[in-house]
Amino acid sequence: MTQTAYRAQLLTFNGDPAQSSNAAIFNEDGLLIVEDGHVVAAGAYASVASQLAPGTQVVEMRDKLIVPGFIDTHIHFPQTDMIASPAPGLLPWLDTYTFPTERGFSDPAVAQDTARFFIDELLACGTTTALVYCTVHKQSADALFTEAQARNVRMIGGKVLMDRNCPEFLRDTAQSGYDDSAELIARWHNRGRQMYALTPRFAPTSTEAQLEATGALAKLHPDVFIQSHVAENHDEVKWVARLFPGHRSYLDIYDHYGLLRPRAVYGHCIHLDAEDRRRMAETRTVASHCPTSNLFLGSGLFDFDKAAESRMPIALATDVGGGTSFSMLQTMNEAHKVARLGGHHLTATRMFWLATAGAAEALDLGDQIGTLKPKSEADFIVLDPKATPLLARRTARTETLEELLFAFALLGDDRAVYETYAAGQRVHRRDDARQHAAGKARIAA
Ligand code: GUN
Ligand code: ZN
Repeated sequence: MTQTAYRAQLLTFNGDPAQSSNAAIFNEDGLLIVEDGHVVAAGAYASVASQLAPGTQVVEMRDKLIVPGFIDTHIHFPQTDMIASPAPGLLPWLDTYTFPTERGFSDPAVAQDTARFFIDELLACGTTTALVYCTVHKQSADALFTEAQARNVRMIGGKVLMDRNCPEFLRDTAQSGYDDSAELIARWHNRGRQMYALTPRFAPTSTEAQLEATGALAKLHPDVFIQSHVAENHDEVKWVARLFPGHRSYLDIYDHYGLLRPRAVYGHCIHLDAEDRRRMAETRTVASHCPTSNLFLGSGLFDFDKAAESRMPIALATDVGGGTSFSMLQTMNEAHKVARLGGHHLTATRMFWLATAGAAEALDLGDQIGTLKPKSEADFIVLDPKATPLLARRTARTETLEELLFAFALLGDDRAVYETYAAGQRVHRRDDARQHAAGKARIAA
């Protein structure tokens, strides 16, 4: 197979920057060599150039920064077209906008069209893997995986399970939800780069029978992911306590049904107590922090100090359409501010780790994605420090890696993502996408 190589600034990680001062590996003059969809080598140009095969063309990008592709650990693809819908909090937002929008996905054409745009938007923002909620309709999961597979991007997704406390038109049953999920696991889990996630929406919209059936399916498939929401909003937490009176806490319901384990990922995790955090750490269950959503819906502030103390695995996520941006850079921007409000200084270096290698490790995918280490899948992005006039002025004055990454996190968004690569193939080029959009606008005018 032919090699391709990129000479650029390179950033990758060999651990959590909060635990070790040598965790970030940065090469100002770096070389990344890719072959057959995988990384062959990445490091200082002077030490890696000897591994170039004869005749390999080296793409010169020395003014750009290559980092592993971003991983978004919680996002709803059917909510793409209702992002930024106004509502006074989570529960009215679900009733007024979310459920009516998700109804449209009974139509496979709507699901296909939205999946195509959704994957385009993720790639434009530099996100190469996401943990994705579909709707209750199994064809919505087919649409997502078909589109992801066509671009050879690694996606994890699942059909929502929901058999009560939602409109009739979005309801499955414990049995049909089980059967549809089993069918989708057989069709998609580990097919190419696709992986399945059992997706009970949240405890209020599942009966005990449905949670039990989901736990049974999880037991049958120990390497399948599980995703849901927990302890996002005060009204939701009170509602859950009324619906499940016998449980110690909201998280304890999922625990009772065998839904805490490695590869189980819970969105929000705001209103937890010490025992919940201890249990998440013990079971290696992941807390997915969604700052733009939590601020937008007024849900509350994720507690970084308590999360760190408990050593529960954490990762970052957009939670679109509750989240207000597809960009993991914008997500870092808001995560930093949420942490600051809690008296915690979250560095940009750690946020880049949380959005790449840290997320991969939390998802038990650290050997495949999230770094530039040899043999890993070549999912990487090229960031442009001169993407906007303001970024150019700011990055011209940064003196440390932390300052450079901080400028990207606070000022960056999709404009900062020059190119995105999945399994070694370019799947997005900012300037081509802009030209394409301008052409479409001219035709429309
Ligand atoms: N809780 C249950 N469903 C949802 C959802 O779609 N978005 C958010 N943010 N929280 C939820
Ligand atoms: Zn969500």
